[in-house]
Amino acid sequence: MNVVLRYAIRGATATEVAASVEEAVRTGALPTGARLPPVRALAAQLGLSAATVASAYRGLRLRGLASGAGRRGTRITARPPLLAARLAPPDSGLRDVAEGNPDPRLLPPRGPHRARLGAAAVLYGAPAALAELLRLASRDLGRDGIPVGHLAVMGGAMDGIERVLQSHLRPGDAVAVEDPGYPAVLDLVGALGLVPRPVALDDSGPLPEDLDRALRAGAQAFIFTPRAQNPTGAAVDAPRARQLRDVLDRHPHALVIEDDHAGPVAGVSARTVCGDGRDRWAVVRSVSKSLGPDLRVAMLAGDAGTVARVRGRQAVGAGWVSHILQGLVAALWSDPSCKERFQRAATAYAERRRRLIGALAAHGVTGSGRSGLNVWIPVREEAATVAHLAARGWAVRAGERYRMKSAPAIRITISTLTARETDGLAADVAESQRGVGRTSAA
Ligand SMILES: Cc1ncc(COP(=O)(O)O)c(C=O)c1O
Repeated sequence: MNVVLRYAIRGATATEVAASVEEAVRTGALPTGARLPPVRALAAQLGLSAATVASAYRGLRLRGLASGAGRRGTRITARPPLLAARLAPPDSGLRDVAEGNPDPRLLPPRGPHRARLGAAAVLYGAPAALAELLRLASRDLGRDGIPVGHLAVMGGAMDGIERVLQSHLRPGDAVAVEDPGYPAVLDLVGALGLVPRPVALDDSGPLPEDLDRALRAGAQAFIFTPRAQNPTGAAVDAPRARQLRDVLDRHPHALVIEDDHAGPVAGVSARTVCGDGRDRWAVVRSVSKSLGPDLRVAMLAGDAGTVARVRGRQAVGAGWVSHILQGLVAALWSDPSCKERFQRAATAYAERRRRLIGALAAHGVTGSGRSGLNVWIPVREEAATVAHLAARGWAVRAGERYRMKSAPAIRITISTLTARETDGLAADVAESQRGVGRTSAA
């Protein structure tokens, strides 16, 4: 986006210049993606040295407010870590297959368990993790081959990922990430001042040669989604897990973070490339897709050093994840009907994915989605496709926010997509591609 800057950046020092830019982002005067003036131009305008403005821009980059430099220019990032003034989007009235949420009807009811929680007061000094939750997590993660000698309870997968990154990396460090990948991870990497390095994927997960290239080029960490990859639905199978482990064995000091955000409803078994023998690793398994995102609970397994850092840092900040939430997760996990519900949800999502992919194929369109809640559909032009589908009553996600170097696509969340809706949606997607073809040929 080449936004013309109407906002006058002010300041006599690097700190003041950076503060002026931050204020403009906060008030909405500088929109996301806006290009900042070249260093020399702004320096001349403000009567400052180029070094002062460069220092202000560097500070903004390290805080994830700006990205890029040099001839490509410095821009405000897509989602700066700052509560910016945003207009609430009007209710579009469209059928929303964009949001990436689980189907609320497939989440286990909490009522019967909730009534029993919070009876005994938990005070300062209590252990951070509920013993029963640790026991159940050890059983589940251990069954999937993940070493469970060191565990912690996090406030969701993203909380775990952030804490692990912060415990090992410093601003400026490079991190290998999936491309396409989950925008919140890309935003978090930027917000921590880290530099993302794209690793391409196929249906079986990250490509080993791409990972090797990123690590050889200096990436210190690798974040990936072993199943229910968002947006493509990729899932690491046994051969790919072996290949990835071979690559990682050549980079024994690289930090590896597995984001198992969908857990038992992903629709495929868990695979891990982590374990004893790796220096620095963490597997984060969230309950967001199986029990509901509002629980904000994820289990983190890792090597002794990583878990000690994460728990130590948590202790001096938030302290712990509320035992009310931990108790609710433990109660749901020990309810046998919950396991059946996970299975039912995984089967329902698999059926909805297959149905949409099949309907698209019948219309000559390719979609991918081996696991998880989404189907990823390569398209020629994202904006035109999204607009076409909106005109047909569908809200879908443009792939732009998920991509670095990978090709244009849209994401459709299948979690609540009914059989009756599927064929119409597939036909509309197919029509959108014919429309796009005609438009661009004209
Ligand atoms: C890949 C991925 N990671 C993490 C999350 C968020 O997980 P949590 O709610 O546990 O932070 C999502 C949510 O959709 C996701 O798609």
